Amino acid sequence: MKILAIESSCDETAAAVLENGTTVLSNIINTQIDTHKRYGGVVPEIASRMHIENINKVIDTALSEAKVTFDDIDAIAVTYGPGLVGALLVGVSAAKGLSYALNKPLIPVHHIKGHICANYIENPDFKPPFVCLVASGGHSHIVHVKDYNTYEVLAKTCDDAAGEAFDKVSRVLGLGYPGGPAVQTEAEKGNPEAIRFPRVNMGEDGFDFSFSGVKTAVINYIHNAEQKGIEINKADVAASFQEAVVDVLSSHLMDCAIKCGVKKIALAGGVASNKPLRERIEEKAKKNGFELSFPSPILCTDNAAMIGCAGYYAYQNGEVAGLDLNAVASLPLN
Ligand code: KG4
Ligand code: ZN
Repeated sequence: MKILAIESSCDETAAAVLENGTTVLSNIINTQIDTHKRYGGVVPEIASRMHIENINKVIDTALSEAKVTFDDIDAIAVTYGPGLVGALLVGVSAAKGLSYALNKPLIPVHHIKGHICANYIENPDFKPPFVCLVASGGHSHIVHVKDYNTYEVLAKTCDDAAGEAFDKVSRVLGLGYPGGPAVQTEAEKGNPEAIRFPRVNMGEDGFDFSFSGVKTAVINYIHNAEQKGIEINKADVAASFQEAVVDVLSSHLMDCAIKCGVKKIALAGGVASNKPLRERIEEKAKKNGFELSFPSPILCTDNAAMIGCAGYYAYQNGEVAGLDLNAVASLPLN
């Protein structure tokens, strides 16, 4: 089965062609990072307009790289939420148009399920059940993936997402956008033990996240130093902030997996590219005898291959949408 997948939930216009769920025939990503960089973050209206300009080119390239035509495609999968509503609408409208014109099924895909399914693409032996940390610019969830179509959210953030905190801290440190890679590079020169930033546990079990506190602590630290005329060591601040986030993400993931009695864990989302986070979780997985999966960085960041993979499993589950499919900015996982 060949699926054409479309993703436009934030600042990447992406299309991919997948065969039987996990064989990627093409994976085209047109990122708008260079445009949004000037504003220090994603400007939703600009994102929507750029998606409109790019979507047809990206779809055409995905088909030609996969050496297929529309006739070879069996179904169209598209991210319909969560995300920026204007951005989502571009992908959803394109997918609906194609579904109608080609008379092929339309598969609605949840963006976070897509991030999780990225794990199946390079690692076909990795199968549910497992517990997955999904950390990106918009989401920080720990999800119990019971089977390919049954998800239970075990923990989530009460305020900022992990990636959002990286982006905001990067901005106050003057390191630019996107913040995650910039903070990681700066942190390589610093001491992660230099400053003890707060680690916050929320919710009944203490598994929920809060990253607004650590972000504010970093901002206060910088402002205090400025007021006293003390020059801060940027690398130490970046390393200590990153350490606080890595500590919380990795320990909550392990605690959730232990509570579920699941010996398999996975990472997903843009923040899953973070090297110290991967290393810390690898260490903990090894120590506890857990199997671990994480996608390559190109499949961690927003892409359409992950949407095609999630779409394949959704289709097996009978999830097909009509032409009244709409974009949904806040879409719960279960
Ligand atoms: O999954 P993604 O591409 O888009 C969303 O769905 O949000 O994630 C983007 C987020 C940004 O906040 C970016 O700063 C963060 O992922 N990120 C990282 C790293 N690479 C990207 N955060 C920490 N370390 C990284 N190496
Ligand atoms: Zn994402």
